[in-house]
Amino acid sequence: MFNETVLKEIDGIKAQYPERRSALLPSLYIAQREFGWLSDEAMQHVAKTLNLPEAEVRGAASFYSMFRHKPAGRHVIQLCTNVSCMILGAEKLVDFIAGKYGVQPNSTSPDGRFSLVIMECIGACGTAPAMLVNTDFYDSLSENRIEEILGKYK
Ligand code: FES
Repeated sequence: MFNETVLKEIDGIKAQYPERRSALLPSLYIAQREFGWLSDEAMQHVAKTLNLPEAEVRGAASFYSMFRHKPAGRHVIQLCTNVSCMILGAEKLVDFIAGKYGVQPNSTSPDGRFSLVIMECIGACGTAPAMLVNTDFYDSLSENRIEEILGKYK
């Protein structure tokens, strides 16, 4: 399932740690990057590659919110609606994104362009509201700014 390049990347990560389980989170991240989400098959492959029990891999994958367990759109918007962001209008921004791009929270737009995930605090309370698009960080959001930002993600 992993190609040779990816297997070498994971081997390089394993070599950085005395314990192979320390490579679990970066390996899950790589699997998600390669396949877009963590299917049962992808988690089995990570377990096999690291020679770890599948239950341990599933446990780690289910604990962290950054891992996806169903197929996602081409771009994943993670919008914070925690206290600072909520006070500064994040819930209206959720409605704006839903109306403008046809993507409801925790779902994917019909055209497969965006998935929208509602996040807890992402550590940018001082410049709220904030979001990630894939791994890119944006803050001081407004409807206009979101429109400008998301225009870059086709
Ligand atoms: S509450 Fe949204 S970044 Fe902290």
